[in-house]
Amino acid sequence: MTIQTPNGFRPGRSPRRDKACPRRSATPPSLTAEVTQLGKSDEPLKDREEISLSFLETSLQLFQQKYAPDLGPEQYAHHTGVDREGNPMSGALLWAKAEAQRISNALVTGTTNMVDAELKLVQKLHERVRDYVQWYHQDERCRKGVSVLEYGPGTVRAFQQKTLPLVTALRGETSRCTLVDRSKEFLGDIAQLSSALGLKIEIIRDDIFSGRRYFCDDEAAFAVMFGRTFGNLAAPINGSPPVEAVVETLKKISNSAKRCWVAISIGSDLRRDVAKSYYEAHPEFQLNVFYRMKAELPVDANFDPEAFEYESDVRGEDQFMQVIHTAVVKRNLDFCIGGKEIILSSGDRLHLKNSFSFSELFFKKCARRAGFVSIDVLSDNAGSDIHVLKRVD
Ligand SMILES: C[S@@+](CC[C@H](N)C(=O)[O-])C[C@H]1O[C@@H](n2cnc3c(N)ncnc32)[C@H](O)[C@@H]1O
Repeated sequence: MTIQTPNGFRPGRSPRRDKACPRRSATPPSLTAEVTQLGKSDEPLKDREEISLSFLETSLQLFQQKYAPDLGPEQYAHHTGVDREGNPMSGALLWAKAEAQRISNALVTGTTNMVDAELKLVQKLHERVRDYVQWYHQDERCRKGVSVLEYGPGTVRAFQQKTLPLVTALRGETSRCTLVDRSKEFLGDIAQLSSALGLKIEIIRDDIFSGRRYFCDDEAAFAVMFGRTFGNLAAPINGSPPVEAVVETLKKISNSAKRCWVAISIGSDLRRDVAKSYYEAHPEFQLNVFYRMKAELPVDANFDPEAFEYESDVRGEDQFMQVIHTAVVKRNLDFCIGGKEIILSSGDRLHLKNSFSFSELFFKKCARRAGFVSIDVLSDNAGSDIHVLKRVD
């Protein structure tokens, strides 16, 4: 099977090396869990090494074009990069640390935040999910169960708290649980947990926005995307509402199964100052990719990960807000990466990723255009929403 990544890099082909910049990459350990793809094709989907190889291409795109739509998922990867003091800068570790800090901060201060608010909403989702999933063939639904597909499960903690109760509530004779993520580490941790619990879970290391069909036509599925991952959808900096990008992304999710319900968490708080302080609390997570470049890619000694500073740049109006996660270059840099010379000037801004928030009305409008009907909106009325949608043909 020929696999091609969105930026055109093919597996099995090594990235071009520069003689002056020898390759220092260490191949990450491969995932041992079962990896299969069902649906359109029954061909096994191997752990796809090309995903990590494309980090060089993505990094080059970031430096040359100042925006790499595929960089966001790379932020969650585990790597051996360290900062000047020798502290680990692994994306997987920093994400887990930020998640734990946000939860404990909420407990200590009694204030609500995204992680904490979403957990409460997900508990409501657990209580109501059987009512949402009214398959027209009631008896058959009860017997067969409804499969759960999660896009971007993240840490074991998030999977256990948010997804596992849904799998249990919808379980039946033929139902399955399928997890799709780019992070080997997160998937590997969940695979370990599932074998310890005796659960059979399909782990697929892939792009969550691939638009791939995961279920056969006679299977019913409940697809979820938590942690506001949907808001990370790729889009350039733009002052107008990203209708097309949202509709197209929703259509990809709806293609996961012919019969499906979907639960997507999004931020609906459009206050810029709140968003800025939320994201600026964890700059090291946003910038960890530069330390990974230093650790894994063929870069010369002039490349300095400490030369980048995190800033969240915010745009939007009354229907949406776009947080543009930005790395600001602090001093002139001239370095070589993958055989290419990169010249950056102090003040240059590199667009790392988006975090979009949407008003309830805007998101519902896009969902309708993507072929869904809205069946519920779980909201804390303070900026955290879970939209529950049903695909209509
Ligand atoms: C914001 S975290 C959310 C994790 C978890 N669902 C939660 O609620 O805490 C995003 C997750 O999606 C994965 N991810 C982000 N973008 C992705 C992409 N384009 N393809 C595959 N996985 C992606 C990351 O590796 C990470 O596990």
